[in-house]
Amino acid sequence: MKKKIIISIFLILSVCLVTGCNNKNKDKKVDYKCKETIKDDNKSAVIYFSATGTTKKVAEQIAKESNSDIIEIIPSEEYKSEDLDYNSDCRANKEQNDPSARPGIKNSIDISKYDVIYLGYPIWWGTNPKIILTLLDKYDFTGKVIFPFCTSGSSSIDKSIEDLKNYNPNLNIKDGKRFSSNNSQNEINDFVNRSKIEMNTINEDANKVNVNIDGNDYILNLEDNVTAKKLYELAPFDVTMDELNGNEKYIYLSSSFPINPYKPGHIEKGDVMLFDNSCLVIFYKSFDTTYSYTKIGHIDNLPDLGSSSISVKFTR
Ligand SMILES: Cc1cc2nc3c(=O)[nH]c(=O)nc-3n(C[C@H](O)[C@H](O)[C@H](O)COP(=O)(O)O)c2cc1C
Repeated sequence: MKKKIIISIFLILSVCLVTGCNNKNKDKKVDYKCKETIKDDNKSAVIYFSATGTTKKVAEQIAKESNSDIIEIIPSEEYKSEDLDYNSDCRANKEQNDPSARPGIKNSIDISKYDVIYLGYPIWWGTNPKIILTLLDKYDFTGKVIFPFCTSGSSSIDKSIEDLKNYNPNLNIKDGKRFSSNNSQNEINDFVNRSKIEMNTINEDANKVNVNIDGNDYILNLEDNVTAKKLYELAPFDVTMDELNGNEKYIYLSSSFPINPYKPGHIEKGDVMLFDNSCLVIFYKSFDTTYSYTKIGHIDNLPDLGSSSISVKFTR
């Protein structure tokens, strides 16, 4: 009898242990799945400036976790320790106090292929070092989503983000994160996962633009390419589009687009194309063509738009 009781207790304990293990494994699986559902179709780069190596270390962690390229902003004139002695009248202090200071960047940086930029810098006097403004002046960040991060003794990143947004209101700057010199891997993961979730939300919404033509609403379904993405980023905007050839309305926009032209051979009524790198065209008749275009998208149920110019509002 005693033996039976001992065996029963042993069996119950074993079952509990096994069930416990399974639950743990299940939890693990759920975690893993959650991570997997964060799709990542965007090409990203970590672009950072670091004078003494703290931001560099965080930049490397973010690049590894987010599978990004990593690019250092190298100043034309290196910051020596006396340039960073903020208790003196050092070079860094002078630059931060001079609104026109734009310290040179030694290396050339190609940002054209990236959708997402993780932008890193140390906090200097509560904000970003001026060399970050040099970067923003030098390169075209249109259509890019910027996730800023910084390191600092204690100051938050908030003022630098506000300053960068005020400096160039066209930049698409998202919430950022401050890291200390002894950050945890969890903090890095959180930041990267948050940015990826945000990019997924943006991408889901970014496949359509509303088009109002002379007071009537249509949906422009966008192609999955950088040209369409740029049109999405430009919206909202209003244009008057002129008549051409009895089949299209066109406008030369002031900004030039990234293009990938091809010869479609045939145009379908409702196709929206870019001719050259800035001429936006809405086709309202189907016909064969020998011209090259980059496709932006298609408007379903577009009527014949007549022979006059049209007023068009593009909104998100
Ligand atoms: C000129 C200068 C000004 C600074 N101002 C601040 C500040 O306002 N708030 C703060 O918390 N840390 C400040 N720091 C400290 C740096 O933000 C911090 O050490 C940072 O992690 C350095 O990054 P790095 O090693 O990548 O250059 C300052 C450092 C320098 C050199």
